[in-house]
Amino acid sequence: MRSISASTTAPVARGWVPLLGHLPQLAVKRVEFLQSIRAQGGIVRIFLGNRPVFVLNSPEAVHEVLLTQSRKFGKGLLFDVARPFIGNGIITSEHDVHLRQRRALQPAFRRDTIAGGVATMTGIAEEQVSSWRPGEVIAMDVVLRRTVTAMLVATLFSTERPDGARAVAELGERVAEHLNTVMRGVLVGTLLPAPLASSPALGHRRYLAAATALRELADAAVRQARQDPADRGDLLSIMFTATPGNPRGMTDVEARDELLSLLMAGAETTATTLAWALHEIGRRPELTERIKAECDALPADVPPGAATLPFTERFLREVLRLHQPSWLLMRRALGPVRVCGVDLPQGAELIYSALTMHRDPAHYPDPLRFHPDRWLDRPEKDLPPGAYVPFALGNRRCIGDHFAMTEMLVVLRAIVSRWRPRPVAGHQVRPVAHALIRPNALPMRVSPWPGD
Ligand code: HEM
Repeated sequence: MRSISASTTAPVARGWVPLLGHLPQLAVKRVEFLQSIRAQGGIVRIFLGNRPVFVLNSPEAVHEVLLTQSRKFGKGLLFDVARPFIGNGIITSEHDVHLRQRRALQPAFRRDTIAGGVATMTGIAEEQVSSWRPGEVIAMDVVLRRTVTAMLVATLFSTERPDGARAVAELGERVAEHLNTVMRGVLVGTLLPAPLASSPALGHRRYLAAATALRELADAAVRQARQDPADRGDLLSIMFTATPGNPRGMTDVEARDELLSLLMAGAETTATTLAWALHEIGRRPELTERIKAECDALPADVPPGAATLPFTERFLREVLRLHQPSWLLMRRALGPVRVCGVDLPQGAELIYSALTMHRDPAHYPDPLRFHPDRWLDRPEKDLPPGAYVPFALGNRRCIGDHFAMTEMLVVLRAIVSRWRPRPVAGHQVRPVAHALIRPNALPMRVSPWPGD
């Protein structure tokens, strides 16, 4: 295990060049670059142009920043860039505002609330997979994004839309498209200096237009929910209702910003993780058969979960390790602070990468091997704290972790119970690191199981 003695300074990563710093490496092979600098120390400095950024490589450093010293950090540059696009909802807000928002939203993420949404999720997933034909090639990444966004919209924002399931799916599709563009804009704005990032040549206007379109969709959802004051138990009703954690209820603008935050945090992350899951399913028939057997043995009315689908859950846990979509997240030091013996100045920008951490051979033997049963050999509790952080840790830990796991189990169950998805000959799946790291494209041919 790496450790840093007291009073060390963070070394500068190899490959620095004047003016650009490490931007050339981040422009071309960004994940490989972050992976390569892990060997240089528990905390390493890189430069985005002239801007120094500290990269947290050791689990100890990640654990300190996210958990034990979390109050000394804000969310940092990435989220400053995101704020003009998506407002000041739970993922971008700080301090007391964040605490109030988190308390207000918590009821929507309770296990019993999520269990109540499983039937809606299942209906959307089943509708999708029942439209497939034997031998058809499905653009799996596109379909998963549409399905997951529709599930999020339907379960969190409006369980009963008067215009029906098709409207939810269409709304999901439009939201997914705009989100994708906005997230690219946030990454460009984080990595590049402001004058460059805001240049029309780099698509800045397109990012702003997508953000405006997204805001209009969210505004319309809020207006619609306000007109119908009945408590439908969905997220918008929860946001409007005064509770001890949310004493005055939210205004329309606050509710709109929360919708955008939740869509931003919950749609692409889940869709991307599922796309990687399907990619592994296509490559590993033996694992797919185990998932199918487990799903077939589960009565239709029993909700999927870690207890009822243990192998499938382990499979997803491994997907979240090897194909963790968050390759870059950030924090900022609110004042001078020492982390694992390294002194960081006030305002220091920090990066942590769950993806590169999850591929460190110090914690995961043969790290590039996809092996769900590694979690039997070495359960999470035996890893150093901070070494497995698919949903982060501490006060900014993912509020939707259980929602996401449930949603992913529902989708896998719907697909694998009925279909065997296989890769399409000649297509090579490559990881592309934009805001998240996801497959370039995922066409898959679906065939029914023999005997079904
Ligand atoms: C596989 C899917 C998902 C992954 C891998 C994931 C991962 C994460 C991570 C790593 C963070 C912390 C970000 C940071 O440190 O800055 C986070 C935060 C968050 N996630 Fe998720 N997430 C997923 C799904 C969801 C879903 C489905 C929702 C909502 C429906 C959601 C809502 C949120 C929110 C609101 C936050 C911010 C929490 C706060 O700051 O208090 N996520 N997520």
